[in-house]
Amino acid sequence: MSPVNIEDLRQLARKRLPRVLFDFIDGGSYDEITLRANRSDLNRIRFRPRVLVDVSQRSLATTLFGQRLALPIILAPIGSAGVFARRGEEAAARASERCGTTMCLSTASICSIEDVAAQRKTPFMFQLYMSQDREHARSLVNRAQNAGCFALAFTVDTAVGGQRDKDVRNGYVVPPRFVARNVLDALLHLRWMLDVPFGPPVSFGNFPGGGGSRSFLPVARRMLRTQDTSISWKEVDWLRSIWKGPLLLKGVLTPEDAQLAMEHGCEGVVVSNHGGRQCDSAPSTISVLPSIVAAIGKRHGGKGAVLFDGGIRRGHDALKAIALGADACLIGRAWAYGLGAMGEDGVEKAIRILESEMSASLALLGRASLAELDAGAVDLDRLSRII
Ligand SMILES: Cc1cc2nc3c(=O)[nH]c(=O)nc-3n(C[C@H](O)[C@H](O)[C@H](O)COP(=O)(O)O)c2cc1C
Repeated sequence: MSPVNIEDLRQLARKRLPRVLFDFIDGGSYDEITLRANRSDLNRIRFRPRVLVDVSQRSLATTLFGQRLALPIILAPIGSAGVFARRGEEAAARASERCGTTMCLSTASICSIEDVAAQRKTPFMFQLYMSQDREHARSLVNRAQNAGCFALAFTVDTAVGGQRDKDVRNGYVVPPRFVARNVLDALLHLRWMLDVPFGPPVSFGNFPGGGGSRSFLPVARRMLRTQDTSISWKEVDWLRSIWKGPLLLKGVLTPEDAQLAMEHGCEGVVVSNHGGRQCDSAPSTISVLPSIVAAIGKRHGGKGAVLFDGGIRRGHDALKAIALGADACLIGRAWAYGLGAMGEDGVEKAIRILESEMSASLALLGRASLAELDAGAVDLDRLSRII
C-alpha cells in the first residue's frame, strides 16, 4: 500500500513494528481522555472559506527565530525514536531538511546531538529534560549551543511520568518486565529485527555512558532515577542565564504560565499536553491556544512565539492552529508513524503529505499565504460554543 495520509502511515507502522513499540507511540496516559480530546476538538472547528481569490501563487513559508521554514511544521521531540528505525533521529534530521524544515531533538534520543548535527547543514532545536544532575543539564545546553541549535525547548509537563496503561501491560517499563509474547512478536517482525536489533548499538547518545548497546537499560534506569520533581521557575531562570538563544517552555496550557514564561525571560512557549501522554483530562491544546495567543502572542501585539502541538494528523489541522494565532506547529506521532512504517522515507512522506494537504486547504480557504490566515478563517462563534 502506498500511503495516502497519516493514518495509512500509522497502519503501516502497526504492521512493521513490534506491538510494544507501536503501543508506546500510539498510546496516551490513563483513560486517554486528553489524547482523544486533541483530535476531537480539532475536528469540531469549522472554517470560513472565501472564494474567487487568486491562489495560483501560494506559499506555506514562514520564519521562526530567523530560520526560514518552507512550511510551518517542525518535528516534535520524540524520545527513543532510534528504536523505531535504525538511527531514527539522524534519518529525521535528513528528511526534515530535504523538506525545507527542521526538528526539535529530544534529550532522550538514541542519536546524540552531535550525530544529528552532522546530518544537517541547517540548524535544529534541542529539547531539554532536566534531571537532578545539573552538571549534565549544563553539559547538554553547552553541547546544543556548540552544535548550533537555534532554540532550546525546556519541557515542563513531566514533573512525574504519566502512566500509559498499555505500556505497563506490555512490560514496556523500566526495568522491562519479561513478557513471553513480546519475544515471539518481535521475532515475527523480521524487517524491524534486521533494521534495529541487528543494526548499530542502540542507546541514549546524549547521556554519559550512552552509545554502547549494553548501556540502554542502565541509562534508562538512571534517567528515571534522577528525574527531578522539584523543578520550578528557579530552573527556568538558571537556564535563561546559561543558554544564549531563544528559550521556549514546552508543555504550557494556561495564559498565566505563558505570561510567567515571558516574565522569566523566555521567548515563547509550546502549547502542548505532551500529546495526551501526561496529565489526563488536561484540556486539548487547540481549546487553550486562543487564550495563550491573547496573553503573549505576536498576532496580538505580544512578544511571545506560540508554537502548537497535539493531534495534528492532517494539513488542515495545522492551518486551524495557525489561524488561531500559532506561529508554527510541531508534529509528534505523525512523523513517528512515518519512521516506524518506512524509516527515513516515511518521515519525508509524513511531511510531504501534510504539506500538500496544507497547500490545498490554504487555497480552498481563499488564502495565498500564512500571513493571510487569521482568525477570520475560523468560525469563532461555533468555536466559543463547543470548546
Ligand atoms: C513516542 C513519543 C515520545 C515522546 N517523547 C518526547 C520527548 O522526549 N520530549 C518531549 O518534550 N516530548 C515528547 N513527546 C511529546 C511530543 O514532543 C509532542 O508534544 C506530542 O507528540 C504532540 O502530539 P501528537 O503526537 O499528537 O502530534 C513524545 C511523544 C511521543 C508520541
